[in-house]
Formats: sequence, C-alpha cells, structure tokens
Amino acid sequence: MRILSGLQPSGRLHLGNYFGMMEAALRLQQEGEAFYFIADYHSLTSIQQPDALRQNVRDLAIDFLACGLDPERCVFFRQSDVPEVCELSWILSTVTPMGLLERCHSYKDKVARGIPASHGLFAYPVLMAADILIYDADVVPVGRDQKQHVEVTRDLAIKINEAFGEGLLKIPEPRIREETAVVPGLDGQKMSKSYNNTIGLFEDPGPLKKKIMRIPTDSTPVEDPKPTENSIILPLYQLVASEADYQTMLADHQRGGIGYGDFKKRLLEAVTSTFAPMQERRQAIEADTGYVERVLSKGAEKARQVARPTLERIRRAVGLGA
Ligand code: TYM
Repeated sequence: MRILSGLQPSGRLHLGNYFGMMEAALRLQQEGEAFYFIADYHSLTSIQQPDALRQNVRDLAIDFLACGLDPERCVFFRQSDVPEVCELSWILSTVTPMGLLERCHSYKDKVARGIPASHGLFAYPVLMAADILIYDADVVPVGRDQKQHVEVTRDLAIKINEAFGEGLLKIPEPRIREETAVVPGLDGQKMSKSYNNTIGLFEDPGPLKKKIMRIPTDSTPVEDPKPTENSIILPLYQLVASEADYQTMLADHQRGGIGYGDFKKRLLEAVTSTFAPMQERRQAIEADTGYVERVLSKGAEKARQVARPTLERIRRAVGLGA
C-alpha cells in the first residue's frame, strides 16, 4: 500500500494539522510505503517572499521530523524537488472541466479571505491531483477540508483512464478520521492559519498562555454548571488530554463550582505536556545544521525515481514525445 500526503509550508504546524492529518500519517508509516512532502509549489499561491518560503519549508520539515516522521521508513521530500509533477499537472488540466474547479470550496473560501484570485490558486486542485497520481498513491490521509480535492483527483484519474487507457492511473482513496476531521480553532471555527485562530505545536509558553486564556467563554457564574455544547475548550482538551481527564473536565462543567479560567489552565498544561517531548527532539534536529537538507534531498531522489516512470507512461499514452 502506498500512502501519500502533503502540507503547505504556510506557517508553523498547528493542532489542526497534527490531529487532522499528521497523527494518522505517522501511524500509517508503519503500515505501508509512505510518501510525505512539503507543498512549496502550492504555497507560492499565497507567499511571495522567497526567504520566508524557504524558512517555512525548513521549519515545517523540522516540525514533521520532531513529531516522529522516520526518514528511514518514509520518503520525505520537498514538492518542488520533483518538477515532473508540474508536467503531469498540465496534462491533467487538459481534461479538467472548468466547472469541476469552479465548484471547489477552498478556492472560493481563499478568495473571500483576500488571497488574490490567480490562475495558480484556481488550478490548485489539479496540481494536488498530480501530486497524488504521479506517485500511484492508494491512500491519502487528510483533514475534511481536503476531501473535495481528493475527489477531484479521483475524477481526473478516471477521465485520463477513460480517454487514454484503463489502469493508466491508480484511483486513490482519502483517509479521514471522523473524530478529528475538523479541529476547531481558538474561536470555534476550523483551525486555520488564515483565520488567525491557531494553537501551534511548538509555541513559546508566553504567547501560548495568552492565546488559551483569551478563548471566548460565556458569562455563567463560577458556581453554576457550564454549558458543554458549543464549548471551544472541551473539544480541544479532548484532543490533548487522557480520556479520564477529559471525563473529569466534562463532569466539572456539568457540576458547576469551577470557573473557565481553571479549565483553560488544564488545557494549557495538556497542550504543553503533549508536545514537550517533540519540542525537545525539535531542538536536537535544529542543532544539526545539515541534517534536514540531507533528509530532503535523499527523499527527492527516491520520489523522482517513482515520479519519472509514471510521467513517462502518461506522456507515451497521451501522444507526447517521439
Ligand atoms: P494544508 O497545508 O492546509 O493542511 C495540511 C493537512 O492538515 C489538515 N488540516 C486540518 N485537519 C483538521 N482540522 C483542521 N483544522 C485542519 N487544518 C488543516 C488538512 O486537511 C491537511 O490534510 N492542499 C493541501 C496540501 C497538499 C496535499 C497534496 C495534501 C498539496 N498536495 C496531495 C494531500 C495530497 C493543503 O493545503 O493542506
């Protein structure tokens, strides 16, 4: 089984990335041949500062390694180190109906939030399809917000197969964990860098405390029971606390007598202790200056060995080359 997924280097890792995708991706590296990459071509649609982009790629690579990605087991690489994917993206775009892209929520959402409506942003799902199809991936672990893009990928693979030969491209399956498909942010909306509502995995203690203490709550007096529905604290706590601690917090809400400040402190402690071991590993990886580049270039070499023959197969099938 080949597993594949990518993350945009649009900022530091947050709980949404970790619980929505990375946890599953890390587990899956034991179950098959995993390909994970940093989607820097995709990030060009929103970041036009070269130094920031490069720094983000490096930070994200360190974060992923610190969380437990094993470069001996998986192929870990930078998307743009395999430019073959752009050629496949072009070929796919020639069979992509405009309507299919026009229906994609993510594009409409991003434009509504002020990201310039470039052709790259519009064609983003086609490049994502190329990412998946060029490695013949079977399974794609993602959060719910990427589900539609994997569906587009399946549609495009089917179109290519119908037009140029059955079995030419493998049809991938999304793998979405229901409980963590949409991790809420500090304001209760989906956690996302662009909503400015994230809790980073490796935030400094000061800013982290400030963010958590500012989570909006209602004005129920301390002694009264607290509503559990629409709580922002509870679902976040459930992600980082043990089941027993979560049940205690739930019961404390229902019983009353404890204020929101106390619940927030528990959340802060659980976030900090969950990621403390990874934080330590992160520092060690960061101190080894050449390590990340070595991992990424070895990954790129392996990724290209898989991407080239797929592209060659498609080029031949569609009539490109002699
Ligand atoms: P990106 O960088 O936005 O997010 C990376 C992964 O994190 C998941 N995620 C979430 N899951 C649950 N709750 C949240 N609040 C949350 N926020 C983020 C995303 O669903 C994703 O799985 N287009 C992709 C990158 C990409 C890709 C690919 C992914 C490019 N090519 C090929 C898979 C296969 C993206 O922007 O993810």
